[in-house]
Amino acid sequence: MQHATAPVGGGARMQVLICTSPAQAARSAASAVLAGLPGARKEACNDGLPPVLGLATGSSPLGLYAELGRAVERSEAWFGDAQGFALDEYIGLPAGHPQSYRRILEREVCAVIGLATHRLHVPDATAETTGTAAGFTRRAHDYERQIIDAGGIDVQILGIGVNGHLGFNEPGSALSSRTRVKRLAAQTRADNARFFADPADVPTHCLTQGLGTIARARRLVLIATGSGKAAAVAAAVEGALSASCPASILQWHPDAVVVLDGAAAARLRNRSYYDDAAAGLGTP
Ligand code: F6R
Repeated sequence: MQHATAPVGGGARMQVLICTSPAQAARSAASAVLAGLPGARKEACNDGLPPVLGLATGSSPLGLYAELGRAVERSEAWFGDAQGFALDEYIGLPAGHPQSYRRILEREVCAVIGLATHRLHVPDATAETTGTAAGFTRRAHDYERQIIDAGGIDVQILGIGVNGHLGFNEPGSALSSRTRVKRLAAQTRADNARFFADPADVPTHCLTQGLGTIARARRLVLIATGSGKAAAVAAAVEGALSASCPASILQWHPDAVVVLDGAAAARLRNRSYYDDAAAGLGTP
């Protein structure tokens, strides 16, 4: 099985799928992921390169991961030989910290979809190995190399920050950036404080895939639900392509799927057009 390829020539498109509920959004997003991962079918597993999945943490994709787990149970998908690449990792948490993105992905993805933990790649940023700026630069390069050596990411699963960030590429991030150290925005630290005993415990820095790294994935699937994401979604889908809204790179990507519930779609101006296009009456 060859890796899925992005459409070429006139085939590039950004699909906007507006669902009636978060549960339906999770099902649609899981379908969009599987459509971009032909290698995730059991019968295809020995027929070429194994699938490579880019993994977001956070609340948004949890239902999607549960749906992928159900597809595995129904024998419609298989991730036994897949590789997973995290979008990002906090700098400075002790190895094994329950809020480290490695631990979260082991719990919320590996255990759910049957991805082997030794095939889960996460940028190395633990407290034990935290070192010099040069050391982080080397680790960031190593991470880029691991992605390339795996054949590139077939499908990158994404959430969106309320400030429009992708991964931890905060507003102002270079559109062509690669994996590197980033400082978390104050908004992001406040949003993520819910996972820590004390807001002061939220790390200040991270290693994150860059926007250029994310854009190289053959398919992007972004899921957003709830009214808190409506402004960011509108900026990403209908605003200017700009570093001010990092998620606006989806407009430029040749194969992007944006899956929303009604609340997250509430500030889109072209909603009826997206609905018509999704019903097969046009191509966005
Ligand atoms: C997670 C990540 C972030 C989140 C975003 C949304 O790895 O990189 O970009 O996707 O902050 O988080 P939730 O889904 O918790 O609202």
